[in-house]
Amino acid sequence: MPPVLETRGLTVRFGGHVAVDAVSCAFHAGTLTAIVGPNGAGKTTYFNLMSGQIPATSGDTLLEGEDISGLGAAGRAQRGIGRAFQITNLFPNLTVAENVRLAVQARGRGAASLFSLWSRHRDWIERADHYLELVNLSGVRDTQAAALPHGDKRKLEVAIMMALEPKVFMFDEPTAGMSVDEVPVILDLIRTLKRDGGKTILLVEHKMDVVRSLADRIVVLHNGKLVADGDPATVIASPVVQEAYLGQAPKREAAHG
Ligand SMILES: Nc1ncnc2c1ncn2[C@@H]1O[C@H](COP(=O)(O)OP(=O)(O)OP(=O)(O)O)[C@@H](O)[C@H]1O
Ligand SMILES: [Mg+2]
Repeated sequence: MPPVLETRGLTVRFGGHVAVDAVSCAFHAGTLTAIVGPNGAGKTTYFNLMSGQIPATSGDTLLEGEDISGLGAAGRAQRGIGRAFQITNLFPNLTVAENVRLAVQARGRGAASLFSLWSRHRDWIERADHYLELVNLSGVRDTQAAALPHGDKRKLEVAIMMALEPKVFMFDEPTAGMSVDEVPVILDLIRTLKRDGGKTILLVEHKMDVVRSLADRIVVLHNGKLVADGDPATVIASPVVQEAYLGQAPKREAAHG
């Protein structure tokens, strides 16, 4: 079985700056990998490269063994790379429920008779409501997406990603900017996804307690390079993490409030 997602020598250069530097890494089904590293290490850029938001300067990305380097973001999303937290992807004038229903519909295409369309329509609504329940947004299902507070928009992004049933779930600092009572909702969701088994989950997260409680594996990026990779206990204890990352973590966490 090939890994679900893999990068080989993935590199992107912005002018003279190499933001992601020859990163080779494979992600397997049933594993939650935390990607950590100091601010500016290249974590978000690595996600942007894998999900196709930006083109690589060199190197390849493979999905289930197939080279998808030539595909853009839409093509990769269609093949199952799910990326939360691009709030710009929400339809601001549609309601919360309509946003999720569109994702459910996008997932469940196929030939349709009039009757099956009708019954499927009800099914779409039910499934959309199911995902809204999971993220605790049932109470605002008829609210316009644009009117949601920031934390709720992020929860809506997660509901949409789940409705799309991707092969790979990518979370980039999912709890950043969330209120204290919203954080557990998102963490429980990620935990639920994980319990489902079989899912491939990538999580960028600064809060080490969150990483410790969720990750099966930790990958450390530093100056765009992969500098450590292994089981959480070993990686957290390694000198490279102690020096390069943990020393800076408290400052960053304070900045998140
Ligand atoms: N589009 C771009 N053009 C130029 N430089 C960029 C671009 N995107 C990212 N960078 C630079 O690449 C480096 C890595 O940035 P990135 O956002 O990936 O870091 P990060 O690890 O996600 O940091 P943080 O923890 O603060 O989110 C930074 O020096 C950043 O300024
Ligand atoms: Mg980032």
